[in-house]
Amino acid sequence: MHLCLKSRTGILVTFALASAASAFAAESTNRISSQQVSRGKLLYLQHCVICHQASGQGAAGTFPPLAKSDFLMADKERSIRALVEGLSGPITVNGRNYDGAMPPVVLNDAQVADVLTFVRTTFGNNGDAVTVAEAKQVRSTSRFRTYEALLKASAYPPLPKAPPGFSVREVARLPAHGTRLATEPNALLVLGERGDIWRVEPKNGQITQLLPGNSYCAPNRAHLG
Ligand code: HEC
Repeated sequence: MHLCLKSRTGILVTFALASAASAFAAESTNRISSQQVSRGKLLYLQHCVICHQASGQGAAGTFPPLAKSDFLMADKERSIRALVEGLSGPITVNGRNYDGAMPPVVLNDAQVADVLTFVRTTFGNNGDAVTVAEAKQVRSTSRFRTYEALLKASAYPPLPKAPPGFSVREVARLPAHGTRLATEPNALLVLGERGDIWRVEPKNGQITQLLPGNSYCAPNRAHLG
């Protein structure tokens, strides 16, 4: 873009062309607003912390770090894509290999922009903001073209009607399919299909991951299915 510094009109024309072609202006940086960052922080706590942890440090070998993540910062478009359609398969983050699966995160374009702006500007990262237009553009070329399509694909079926004398209530939505249940005095333990073990507190619906599957077993459907 600096090639056009010759004339004022030159700059304007180049920018106009760039924004018509893409929501990503090549060398400009989006301004960061503190409101966007605080909205993003809240979304991070609701939608990401369970795997990527409170300081974005991840969990060794299972959940890659977002803190000072070279993978995150190298490609903004790719990071938006990870959220809107999920990410799986081998990746290398800060020199360590991961081969897991992150489900798409059910957030709309504005929320994707907010949460990514938060992680790109926190945890030792030094990026610019993500705009709603950028989130929208990447989503439109992803597996789920719109937020509504993702919402539909991710919908949990409605709860069945309770049998006479019982009532049915949703306690929590786990990020993985559960295959076994065990009980503790005040909690349920759930074994997920990839071997993850989750603790669910029926009182308040709080979910904590006790163990990631690949920290103790190789994924094997014959054992877990
Ligand atoms: C259920 C667990 C889970 C949740 C929830 C989750 N992620 Fe991930 N995330 C993963 C896994 C696993 C990978 C690695 C996927 C792979 O190996 O291909 C990953 C990879 C990533 C990456 C690319 C690798 C890196 O470290 O830079 C980014 C960026 C990312 N996640 C951001 C987020 C954000 C932001 C949220 C919340 C909006 C989120 N994730 C929610 C599990 C999760």
